[in-house]
Amino acid sequence: MRSVLALCAPLLLLLGCLAEQSTDQNQTVIVETETEGDTSLPLSLGQIRSTANTPGPTLVVFETTLPPEASVQLRLNGNLEQQIESGTQCQVLPAVTVCEDQINRQWPIMFTSGGDYELQLVAEKAAQSRTLTAQFSIPENACMESPQLYQERMQPTLQQQCGSCHIGGNNAASVFSVNDAWSQMANALVNRGETFYQSPSGQNPGHSARPLTPWSEDYRLLAEMVWRAERRFECINQQSAF
Ligand code: HEC
Repeated sequence: MRSVLALCAPLLLLLGCLAEQSTDQNQTVIVETETEGDTSLPLSLGQIRSTANTPGPTLVVFETTLPPEASVQLRLNGNLEQQIESGTQCQVLPAVTVCEDQINRQWPIMFTSGGDYELQLVAEKAAQSRTLTAQFSIPENACMESPQLYQERMQPTLQQQCGSCHIGGNNAASVFSVNDAWSQMANALVNRGETFYQSPSGQNPGHSARPLTPWSEDYRLLAEMVWRAERRFECINQQSAF
């Protein structure tokens, strides 16, 4: 069983990646990656997803593999951004429980300014440690105010992905309607917070449909709009950053 899983998992991952790449062209180029420390700890950086032309703050998703049951820090330009315990990834089969020997983990991080960055992943497990360092850059883009970004990008996405249900006078439309003006939509985004994109992508249980692929371009756009709504973001505040 173990060997079948070991063969399948990378294959599924590969197929997943290929399928995703065809719809999501927006990968950030990683200039250079190096690791130092204990090579018996699995630690790697896959894609960095961000939308090249996001007009303003952009959600960047780092795809990594980590050692299980390790403490892992993600640092940007030397500053600690997030620290997690990687835990375990196990599948309970009828007779046995099979645990992966590496953990796939996505790190979504909002970037409010473009430029060159250095990413460091530091994994520590008992007495072992390993550090990965990578250089990448986020394009500097002109900012677009939220009402315009809503009309031009978000509303068409919602119409396409959510419009079959979130319209008219039904239950779904009491949460939001794809015809909402930005002021109404901004309230819905603040009320729902991250469940706004985690429910329709299946990351949060209970929503009847899963039209969104986790971490995809549409998913990231909705996350960016929630972030903007929660902060009443206006481009003027960010002029020095963009
Ligand atoms: C197949 C129909 C359908 C589609 C497509 C759909 N929804 Fe929903 N959604 C519902 C219904 C019905 C509810 C009403 C309450 C419930 O049953 O959870 C709901 C509730 C919600 C809620 C609040 C409850 C929760 O689970 O957090 C959010 C947020 C939400 N939808 C977001 C979206 C977004 C964003 C999209 C598009 C990306 C979308 N939905 C697409 C049917 C749908």
